[in-house]
Amino acid sequence: MDVEYIKSHLVPHPDFPKKGIVFLDIFPLLRNPLAFETLITNFVHHLTSSTAAKSPTKKIDVIVGLDARGFLLGPIIALRLGAAFVPVRKRGKLPGQCHTASYEKEYGVDNFDIQVDAIKPGQTVVVVDDLIATGGSAKAAGELVTKCGSQVLEYLFIIELTFLKPSEKLDAPLYSIVKVD
Ligand code: ADE
Repeated sequence: MDVEYIKSHLVPHPDFPKKGIVFLDIFPLLRNPLAFETLITNFVHHLTSSTAAKSPTKKIDVIVGLDARGFLLGPIIALRLGAAFVPVRKRGKLPGQCHTASYEKEYGVDNFDIQVDAIKPGQTVVVVDDLIATGGSAKAAGELVTKCGSQVLEYLFIIELTFLKPSEKLDAPLYSIVKVD
């Protein structure tokens, strides 16, 4: 099964980057071309099938990838869908006028930026990252999409830390392949 196959390539690192955090490393998954392909196909199939957030399936205009590991997934999914890729970056990294949102994450505080003209009002947007923990970063990304005059259709992740109840923070459905409770 896809889920078990994908899960078998995720490597836990206890006490990284600090004590008490079990860090789940996705890079062994990306290192294996068949596992990486299985992952991308799972996301694309979800977004283009009737199991996706909206049925009948809506045309997705923009894939938003979150700094930093969302940048490894988002552009591939965007190209497969014929959609635009837009980065949400840590504050101060993007040139030009930006919208900004702050969030608290599993360990620490951060700020996200998006370029003001990256998403046109009314475009259909999906947000992608590798892992959702408390949901703080995804919520901030949703706020940035709203500031651009659009709204998130769905949030996509490889891994969901379900015990942190991230879906309660979000304004749109959450899709995750591997659930950790
Ligand atoms: N980002 C936030 N929490 C994480 C975790 N437990 N593993 C990997 N990335 C993370």
